Amino acid sequence: MNVCIVGTGYVGLVSAACFAEMGNDICCVDVNPKVVETLRAGRIHIFEPGLEDLVKRNTEQGRLHFTTDLAEGISTAQVVFVAVGTPCGEDGSCDLQYVEAVAREVGQCMTSPKIVVDKSTVPVGTADRVRAIIAEELAKRNEDISFDVVSNPEFLKEGDAVNDFMKPDRVIVGTENEETATVLKTLYAPFARSREKLIVMGVRSAEMTKYAANCMLATKISFINEVANICERVGANVTEVRAGIGSDSRIGYSFIYPGVGYGGSCFPKDVKALIGTAKEYGYEAKLIQSVDDVNNVQKGVLAEKIKAYFEPQGGVAGRTLAMWGIAFKANTDDIREASAVRIIRELTSLGMKIRAFDPVANERAREEVGDIEGLEIMDSQEAVLEGADALAVVTDWNQFRNPDFGKIKEQLKAPIVFDGRNLYDPAAMGEAGFAYFSIGRQP
Ligand code: NAD
Ligand code: UGA
Repeated sequence: MNVCIVGTGYVGLVSAACFAEMGNDICCVDVNPKVVETLRAGRIHIFEPGLEDLVKRNTEQGRLHFTTDLAEGISTAQVVFVAVGTPCGEDGSCDLQYVEAVAREVGQCMTSPKIVVDKSTVPVGTADRVRAIIAEELAKRNEDISFDVVSNPEFLKEGDAVNDFMKPDRVIVGTENEETATVLKTLYAPFARSREKLIVMGVRSAEMTKYAANCMLATKISFINEVANICERVGANVTEVRAGIGSDSRIGYSFIYPGVGYGGSCFPKDVKALIGTAKEYGYEAKLIQSVDDVNNVQKGVLAEKIKAYFEPQGGVAGRTLAMWGIAFKANTDDIREASAVRIIRELTSLGMKIRAFDPVANERAREEVGDIEGLEIMDSQEAVLEGADALAVVTDWNQFRNPDFGKIKEQLKAPIVFDGRNLYDPAAMGEAGFAYFSIGRQP
């Protein structure tokens, strides 16, 4: 099938490479010429395990093309996916300017029938809006070309995106049109192999499903973080409690790891957007608002522990903190809404110096937050420790899980570890002579 994918970020590029891998002819369009240049050279501009090989192979075999020209990209395509960003607007609502710009351009340059697919995460009603924009542009050109607009939200997660796309738990297709559904079923058949995996529903239900899924997952995280905070105060251990509740199959073990709050380009903005949509329709989403509130507090919990520890010794000003991890989670270079950035901003504003290291996000962090006064981003996990007053572990990268604590003790000024991801055993840390603080467990 001839497919065009507009936007080559985490979602667009992964979708494009995976569709191409199944034998489809894919043309990717991105407004950023640098990105297109990199991709044409068989390299990728984001860190995503397994993706570069897939892009390179399919580009070399002629199934994957890249352009900045939308008219060229959609010319032969039967299906056009819109996978551009939908960031959080200033008032917390979803900023649809990129989606609307693509819709307008599609309406301005399409010359044959198209199925336009909203893959970006967009509020309920956006498919109608996209349909209206395309129709408006066609009317301006006095063109009567048939098209349909479908919602097909994406559920992949960064760091495991290729695997998630290749083996999805489900594929949601929101359309009332049977012919359109058949085209998407054909395109997704190699991925959603069992019939129940492809769920066709109304457009608005599909748009809502994406927000409901992300808000449910965010709710699980805020719930366990709240439980962790209570555990600390009542003398319980959240790791034991997690095992105790997760064994109930109705609850399950996943997405109940306590930590430094959820970050990333999706949960924070999608939670806020659903609150906003509900409000627009006259409903106050109290539970989802609390999920957001709890997360805002949780993102500051590690900094609070660090401040409380140093308070009796004159505070954090003039001290140096070694930080392991900047990315919002392991296996990604994405630092959007990362808790590390919030912690860095808060502690440096109090005069603390931070030496941070991330296995893959250093470059992006230098670009985006490298100008924060008091922050030094270093390329060695060991070098950040040298002479620092304490170590804070903020991202759950595997390479942080089993370090040489003897060496760490020698390098730090004093053996103090603040662990925002519960990577270490409190008893073992105590025995090794560390002052050790984690989330929801006794020091
Ligand atoms: P991203 O920021 O990584 O990439 C978006 C790309 O779109 C950029 O390369 C940008 O240059 C390009 N772009 C912007 N305007 C354009 C235009 N007019 N024409 C062509 N290209 C244009 O975004 P992302 O993380 O891939 O997210 C895309 C959407 O998918 C968002 O709505 C997001 O909420 C949703 N989503 C993201 C994930 C994820 O894990 N990142 C998962 C599921 C859904
Ligand atoms: C999330 C969802 O998992 C995807 O299904 C969805 O498609 C995507 O958002 C999206 O809509 O963009 P992602 O943001 O890549 O994917 O990462 P997650 O693995 O979900 O982690 C999000 C945040 O929650 C991270 O900061 C992570 O550290 C945190 N988290 C996750 C916890 O604190 N505890 C957990 O148990 C799980």
